[in-house]
Amino acid sequence: MTAVDLGMPALHAARAEAALPADRPSVPGLVDRFGRTATDLRVSLTDRCNLRCTYCMPAEGLPTLPRDAVMSRAEIARLVGVATSELGVRQVRFTGGEPLLRADLVDIVADVAALPVRPEISLTTNAVGLAHRARALKDAGLDRVNVSLDTLDPDTYALMARRPFLEQTLAGIDAAAREFDVVKVNAVLVRGVNLDHASALLEWCLERGFELRFIEQMPLDADHTWDRSSMVTAAQVRAQLGDRFDLSPDRAPRDGAPAERYVVRRAGSGDVLGRVGIIASVTEPFCADCRRTRLTAEGAVRDCLFAHTETDLLGPLRAGADDATLADLWRTAMWGKHAGHGMARPDFVQPERTMSAIGG
Ligand code: GTP
Ligand code: 5AD
Ligand code: SF4
Repeated sequence: MTAVDLGMPALHAARAEAALPADRPSVPGLVDRFGRTATDLRVSLTDRCNLRCTYCMPAEGLPTLPRDAVMSRAEIARLVGVATSELGVRQVRFTGGEPLLRADLVDIVADVAALPVRPEISLTTNAVGLAHRARALKDAGLDRVNVSLDTLDPDTYALMARRPFLEQTLAGIDAAAREFDVVKVNAVLVRGVNLDHASALLEWCLERGFELRFIEQMPLDADHTWDRSSMVTAAQVRAQLGDRFDLSPDRAPRDGAPAERYVVRRAGSGDVLGRVGIIASVTEPFCADCRRTRLTAEGAVRDCLFAHTETDLLGPLRAGADDATLADLWRTAMWGKHAGHGMARPDFVQPERTMSAIGG
């Protein structure tokens, strides 16, 4: 069966076949030419979002996918099942846009939790609307939650997210804390906006037992305003936190995680307060140890946040492809993964998709 038979548009199929490397080894997992194996799948459930974060979306929003272009609940379970049964995927994270905007999110989690090979299941969300769904998600089998929170100041939140929803986000985080053992908080710092809120946010997370991670802003914004010289770097985050805290590298193995973890002590005293993570994708990239594969909301494999090509699986699935064929298309897609994101190269080009359409 060829890619055209499987329902791919002819041009897309021609490209996919031309790129088929002759030397991909016949091993079961999602290996690439640089010796990495992807075991961590991130599934974008929708490209829609109820916020408009300045580092992600334009104020007016983006055109959204038609409903029938987006994977259904059954199609998600089918593809995640292929990943866990045939391809060695062990962790599945649901992202968006905003995954809580899917009315069937609880059912999607339940379906994946019922797969013959059950992965660890997590969710990355802005937490708006999580308050009334956290319990049902937990009952459906969700294992843990990461929430985005850039500031505790309502005006700054409204400025950054372009929506005044801090209270809803905090209520969602409270509910997550009641239901889940592990809650991680993601924050993007922007100079002149929330950089000087970093220590207060860390204090707040430490008091509640949340693991806060500061994320270097990446060139994935719709407005294309990202600028290496003005973004807040990991080194600047560490310096900023130095006003209240002493950080020392955590010796626990990083195990492919994007976040470099630090032990946090109160400045001047030896008291350990907890941990903080810094995700330094730009200045301290971790691509060499990447274990990720992604599915877009339209059911295409993206081998990297910064990929310029994708491999459609939903078309073949809808055209009747069997699991072995889908698994093989997925393996071929991952074999073509680049060594790194290439942000430092002079010929670097930002991908067309914004973070909201990839899902972080
Ligand atoms: P856990 O620590 O296992 O919970 O996962 P995580 O940190 O990957 O999850 P989360 O979805 O919270 O991602 C946090 C941030 O890490 C994202 O918002 C991205 O900014 C960044 N990130 C996630 N995946 C990648 C990746 O593949 N490459 C790079 N460069 N950054 C990533
Ligand atoms: N760079 C880094 N992180 C980003 N996020 C959104 N856009 C960017 C960007 N350009 C983060 C959000 C959220 C996660 C899904 O991705 O803050 O925590
Ligand atoms: Fe903000 Fe995430 Fe929505 Fe983008 S997808 S606008 S980062 S909440």
